[in-house]
Amino acid sequence: MKVSASFLSSQNIATDLKKLNDTDIDYIHVDFMDGKFVPNKTLPFRQMKHIYEFTSKRLDVHLMVEKPKKWISKFATLNTEFITIHLETEDIITSLEQIHTYGIKAGLSIKPDTAIEEVVPYLPYVDLILVMAVEPGKGGQEFMEDTVQRVKDLKKLLKKYKANIEISVDGGINNEYAKKLKNADILVSGFYITSSDDFQKQIDSLRV
Ligand code: DX5
Ligand code: ZN
Repeated sequence: MKVSASFLSSQNIATDLKKLNDTDIDYIHVDFMDGKFVPNKTLPFRQMKHIYEFTSKRLDVHLMVEKPKKWISKFATLNTEFITIHLETEDIITSLEQIHTYGIKAGLSIKPDTAIEEVVPYLPYVDLILVMAVEPGKGGQEFMEDTVQRVKDLKKLLKKYKANIEISVDGGINNEYAKKLKNADILVSGFYITSSDDFQKQIDSLRV
């Protein structure tokens, strides 16, 4: 199981990023919000860019924005493995294609109320599906238990369509939920890691 660390609940992102350099974390999850798709807004891109220079790890960018196209080219300039956009936005296929033009893997995220089957038309265009286990917008929320079944259903669906796509789960994850998410390939975790004194111990406990 791969682990991606989120910083929405972090008190000091630069310090925590430096600490994570000494762990075996797979990715740094960058939550970017425009204050429109979700009520909250993150720092402007220019400032974020400077912060994420503190890491040697690959970035897993999660765009919670109304107009993803505007931001894809900016995040493509960083050390980025995935750029994930939301299915509940506009111009999905052209955005996914745009991500691929930079040689970056394309992800599609679904909110808790979006039916799993809605991903089907986009399967040929994606490398990753990010299943939200909380309403997007802030860190430290409670994991929605029905996500476990949604991930199982998604795994089955991907098998049916013979789609070689990774599954990532994001929001409220701790070691107990990690045990129930064996069908996932990547777990995104924020509060559970950054609220601890021992990041590596938390990461190890998620790799079940
Ligand atoms: C929620 C974000 C998540 C989340 C992860 O909108 O996409 O990445 O903050 O953090 P925790 O693990 O604290 O829920
Ligand atoms: Zn996220």
